[in-house]
Amino acid sequence: MKILVTGGAGFIGSNFIKYYLDAHPEDEVVNLDVLTYAGNLENLKDVEENPQYTFVKGSITDRDLVFDLVKDVDAIVHIAAESHVDRSIMDSGPFVETNVIGTQVLLDAALAHGKKRFHHVSTDEVFGSLGPDDKPFDETTPYAPRNPYSASKAASDHLVRSYFHTHGLPITISNCSNNYGPYQFPEKMIPLFIAKLRAGEKVPVYGDGQQIRDWIHVGDHVRGIDACLQKGELGETYLFGDDNEVRNLDLTKKLIELVGASEDMIEFVKDRPGHDRRYATDSRKAHEQLGWKPEFTFETGLRNTIDWYLANEEWVDRCRSGAYKDYYKKQYGL
Ligand code: NAD
Ligand code: DAU
Repeated sequence: MKILVTGGAGFIGSNFIKYYLDAHPEDEVVNLDVLTYAGNLENLKDVEENPQYTFVKGSITDRDLVFDLVKDVDAIVHIAAESHVDRSIMDSGPFVETNVIGTQVLLDAALAHGKKRFHHVSTDEVFGSLGPDDKPFDETTPYAPRNPYSASKAASDHLVRSYFHTHGLPITISNCSNNYGPYQFPEKMIPLFIAKLRAGEKVPVYGDGQQIRDWIHVGDHVRGIDACLQKGELGETYLFGDDNEVRNLDLTKKLIELVGASEDMIEFVKDRPGHDRRYATDSRKAHEQLGWKPEFTFETGLRNTIDWYLANEEWVDRCRSGAYKDYYKKQYGL
């Protein structure tokens, strides 16, 4: 099989490509990524010499390019997105452009070239915010996005589902909870806080820090994406999470303890507008129908993740300074 992965230079995309090439050594992977600030080809150093892997720099909104690439593949794993909520509050334009229009272009290409298999990677944020006693999100939870990022992802999910019902495009969708693990851009909470603590900077906890997220290791998420592709029932949605609800302040204290810093480094700052209070996911459908289960415990996953960031300080520094962009120029002439 030859698959087109979009957004393969980002956090989840690069972890997915490395996992996929290892799990399916006979398959070919084409990585289409426009290399926004979040795209980092250094994440893929391990596979860049692999003859089964090809990188194409370009946007999923470029119709001609996308139609050309989709023609030659058997399946599409659509991971590319603008992914950071805070950025979507500053400017929602790129979120609509990439997450909605880009998805539509990919769907049109998949349809035009004989209804290619399409897996869409989405988020639990499309379901909105839970109260303390609400039951976790599942595949039947109504959509209720509350920030421009989640609204754009919700729109993309609806489009993908509509191509199944209207055109018979063979799709699956996965909605995953908060990921952590290696190669996450240090703007998201866990890598940002580790980087700041290491640099002796205070960590900005939004509002009262009582918001809850359901954390899952990226290694478990990418196995889930592959399981959807291999075993998912067409037209179906699968939720991935780890029954691992943690309050932001508790997580911050845990990170401080693991990095060996002091709780004096906590700084409460103005809350994120529209900040979702609680996410929680019920992944029983994925357990039962895909045979998928998380393998990492939060304890070992977090410890490994911190060890990875501490052992890869240069990667973090190059992300924070922007020096990682030099790698594209040197290696690929981009
Ligand atoms: P990321 O920001 O780390 O990576 C996104 C990648 O997409 C980057 O390499 C970027 O260059 C690329 N990209 C952006 N716009 C593009 C365009 N127009 N054309 C081609 N490439 C483009 O994001 P991530 O955290 O790896 O998230 C990946 C996907 O997983 C997203 O769809 C996101 O909604 C979803 N998701 C993320 C999480 C999480 O916790 N990070 C959880 C659930 C779902
Ligand atoms: O739930 C899945 C989603 O998880 C993905 O769809 C998104 O792409 C991904 O970015 C993530 O969204 P969050 O907004 O939950 O992640 P973030 O790491 O930005 O924030 C996690 C929590 O920490 C959230 O409640 C906000 C808080 N936070 C975040 C930052 C960056 C802080 O308190 N301070 C910070 O500086």
